[in-house]
Parts: sequence; structure tokens; C-alpha cells
Amino acid sequence: MRKKITVIGAGNVGASCATRLADKELGDVVIVDILEGVPTGKGLDIRQSCPVEGSDVKVVGTNDYQETANSDIVVVTAGFARKPGMSRDDLLWANYEVVASTVRQAVQHSPNAILIVVTNPLDAMCHVAWKVSGFPKNRVVGMAGILDTARFRAFLAEALDVSVESVVAFVLGGHGDTMVPLVRYTSVAGIPVTDLLDEATLHQIVERTRFGGGEIVKYLKTGSAYYAPSAATVEMVESILKDKKKVLPCSVLLEGEYGINGLFVGVPVKLGASGVEKIYEIKLTEEERAALHKSAAAVQELVNVMKPKLEAAGA
Ligand code: APR
Repeated sequence: MRKKITVIGAGNVGASCATRLADKELGDVVIVDILEGVPTGKGLDIRQSCPVEGSDVKVVGTNDYQETANSDIVVVTAGFARKPGMSRDDLLWANYEVVASTVRQAVQHSPNAILIVVTNPLDAMCHVAWKVSGFPKNRVVGMAGILDTARFRAFLAEALDVSVESVVAFVLGGHGDTMVPLVRYTSVAGIPVTDLLDEATLHQIVERTRFGGGEIVKYLKTGSAYYAPSAATVEMVESILKDKKKVLPCSVLLEGEYGINGLFVGVPVKLGASGVEKIYEIKLTEEERAALHKSAAAVQELVNVMKPKLEAAGA
């Protein structure tokens, strides 16, 4: 039987995810949005691309969560995107309500699903999804690190004029300006990137990666990135549905790892059929550890602000 994937949000990220999922024939796709007509129209459009792509999956768009019943994976992209001058954290309150209400409805119909959260501010929204769903921590995971790493890899490949496939990079921390690109764990086919690029160039690339999302928002003006975010999300879906057990940087609930407790933060994990199957705790230098903790502190601040609301909602 084919797998079933629900994508909540038929906007730029959601529709791009649905398209990529259908193109890769990963499973039947249900797109849900609060807007009337839009998910249905986009669902039909994507469905009609399937004969061209040679993909035998069903794609439907709807406002009705009943159609999402028994999904294997629920991808949450609903919410507001950033505008120029906004940080991801500025989205907190608007997207809190959206994530809480959509997750609540989705999990009623798919109690065994794995939740992949994409809505920003990412790590805080993972926390909301985890609390509201009541799911175990292996079934709630946020998309951030793959995107940040992809940006890092793209810039490095360009600077070195090598294939993006040869660049292996690592980014730790929250999905925000405090993310921690780990140069020490970054290589070109095993060759440390520090042997190939001078410090000044590397520093420039690290900074561009850190503000990579903001650079795009500045150009788009009315929204934020979606092609790379959707590609990153679909890599996670694929690793889970095919039980590939890829090791990928994702936002997960830490319970003591890296000295962080009760927060979603981006770290390397193994993604397979059970969701988050392992959290890798790698050795960090003092400087890297301090940067990771600074990043976690930024997530903690948002979680503290949301706490009364979550408790009032019984989550
Ligand atoms: N239920 C369902 N869908 C909703 C709800 C809701 N309560 N509230 C908003 N939406 C839908 C909107 O109707 C819209 O179609 O979410 C969609 C968001 O789409 P866009 O505005 O195009 O935003 P997008 O670029 O897709 O980004 C969505 O992903 O990467 C993050 O920072 C980004 O938080 C943002 C999210």
C-alpha cells in the first residue's frame, strides 16, 4: 500500500513540498489549507503533473482534515512567512496559533504519524507541535539544519568550483541567526575545507549562510524562501518513508544531550521508519559549545514566552 503524506499549508513551501513529494512518488499527498479553493486547485494542478512525471500517486487539496486520516507523515508548513526586516522570531505569536490549531486537528486523524515541522520560528514551533500533539519525541522533528547545510554547501561548492555533491557540511544549533556552521566538520570529499579555503573566505561564507534566509527575503520582499526549504523537507520524508536512516541535522528535543534539556535544537540525528532513531552527540570545542548554548538560549527565550499559553491550553 502506498504511503500517505499530509502537507498542512498550501502556500509557497507547502505547495513546493507537495510537488516534490509527488515527483519523487513518495506517497499519496493531501494538502490542507484554511483558504477555500486554493488547496483544491493546487492539488488538482499537481495531480495533473503526475502523468508527465510518470508518477503514480494521488494528490488532493482540501479544507477538511478528515481526508488526512491515517497519514504516515504530517508536514506542517502553515503560517506566515517573513517580510523584509523581520526575524524568524518575530513570527512567534502569529504562527503559534496556526501551528497549535493545525497540529491539534491533524493528530486527531493521524495519531501514529510522524510530524515534520517547517513553520518558523522553527525550534519554538517544534516545541508547540510536540506539546499539542502529545507525541513521543521521536515523532516530532523540525526541518532546519538540512536547509542551512544546503546553503553552506552551495556557497562552498561555488567558491571552490566543485560539485555540490562533493561538499559535506555541518550546521548545528537553532534555525536562526545564532546557528553554528561547523567548519571543522566540513569537507570536500574528505579533504578538510580549512585546507582549501583561507580563513577570511570561510568566515564570509559562514556569515552568508547564517543570514542566507534573510538575503532571500530581502529580494522577494513579500515572502521567504521555499525551493530549498521544500527540498530539505522532502529529504527528511524520504529518509523516514524509505527507512534510509540518513544522518541529517534536524531540530529535535534534547534531554541532556550537549548539556541542553527540554528544548528543540538542531543536531545530527538518524532519520528512519521510527522517525528520530538516534541523536548523535559529537565532541565540540569550547567555542563551538558556547555558540551552541547561545543558540539554545535564544530558543529557550521563545519557549519561556510561550509557556503560560501552552500550560493554559493544557499542553
Ligand atoms: N490552517 C491551515 N493553513 C493555514 C492556516 C491555518 N490555520 N493559517 C495559514 N495557513 C496557510 C495560508 O493560508 C497559506 O496558504 O499557510 C500558508 C502559508 O503559505 P505562505 O504564506 O506562502 O508561506 P510559506 O512561504 O509557505 O511559509 C510558510 O514556512 O518556511 C516557513 O517561515 C516560513 O513560517 C513560514 C512557513
